[in-house]
Amino acid sequence: MTLSPKGTGHLTAGPVTNSRISGVGGYRPRRVVPNSEIVDRIDSSDEWIRERSGIIERRFAGEGESVIDMSVFAATPALEMAGVAPEDLDAVIVATVSWPYQTPAAAPMLAERLGTKGAAFDISAACAGYCHGISLASDMVRTGTARNVLVVGVERLSDFTSLDDRGTAFIFADGAGAAVVSQSDTVGIGPTVWGSDGAQWEAISQTESWIDVHEKNLGWPHIGMAGQTVFRWAVWGMAPVAQQALDAAGITADQLDAFIPHQANVRIIDAMAKKLALPPDLPIARDIAYTGNTSAASIPLAMERMVRHGEIPSGGLALQIGFGAGLSYAAQVVVIP
Ligand code: COA
Repeated sequence: MTLSPKGTGHLTAGPVTNSRISGVGGYRPRRVVPNSEIVDRIDSSDEWIRERSGIIERRFAGEGESVIDMSVFAATPALEMAGVAPEDLDAVIVATVSWPYQTPAAAPMLAERLGTKGAAFDISAACAGYCHGISLASDMVRTGTARNVLVVGVERLSDFTSLDDRGTAFIFADGAGAAVVSQSDTVGIGPTVWGSDGAQWEAISQTESWIDVHEKNLGWPHIGMAGQTVFRWAVWGMAPVAQQALDAAGITADQLDAFIPHQANVRIIDAMAKKLALPPDLPIARDIAYTGNTSAASIPLAMERMVRHGEIPSGGLALQIGFGAGLSYAAQVVVIP
């Protein structure tokens, strides 16, 4: 990048290239947890959970299976698909709310495990974290800050879920999804539409701050949720955001090849699809049935499954939208790798 002559107040170099997702990967822990394992402690039933959330089973990480381990398992196939060697990654972004260290971030350890010394940092935007990461990575690549960026959404939410909490015990789960964002000749990632509503900060939150946990000797904190508040916000608030992402990309719903929303609850997914008037035959991610709600991991996990099963075409257009604690959200249209 060269600077313009002194005093003119601008740079001569602008965006250098376009960006695209060049590879995706996913990791689902091996331990399958059916609804029957959850229901007794919350006085629920398999039928109720299926009907209210669409979840049939979820995965919990095994003993000692860390956020970093799961991230490596998701990143490795994503890098292979992208044809990018770890040393060619200029940055690693990890979106997570369940890495158990306040500092340092998970990303530097992941970068080390993969074999890159590139920039490495975490972002905390809960279920919207992956789409925030894709937005950052895309801008980094477009401006020449990085050639290839690894974005990982990963959660070990079983550590932060109370199995006695009727509102959350059946929802949250563990897993990792990854995408590589690379340089591209054509536009592969549309503009991101994002925002937050901090007035609803408490609608999904850790039940106690770390200070309270320490000072009041409260034991391990977990994530609490005002289910109906979140449900209403997602159903009424997120379809317009998804529509804005389509508008920003300059396309209409009938040009989509896939709709890949955050896997929060199948009723939210269905309501959004209806409000967006999506074509009836459009493939819609419903990975939640067998994976549960894996927060930051849910969108790349769902995309990885659809790509692997040949349900969506490479080169097609996918609308993805993440939303959750904050309350935060981010949406963009991407070209399917
Ligand atoms: N099992 C069985 N019954 C349950 C239950 C459970 N786990 N939780 C609540 N109920 C019962 C209640 O006791 C109540 O019974 P009543 O009508 O006899 O009084 C009834 O179900 C409705 O309770 P409510 O708390 O209003 O549940 P709901 O219909 O709002 O469903 C959620 C609960 C969590 C499924 C729903 O609010 C939801 O999907 N919210 C969005 C959650 C989400 O997607 N979060 C992720 C965002 S990132």
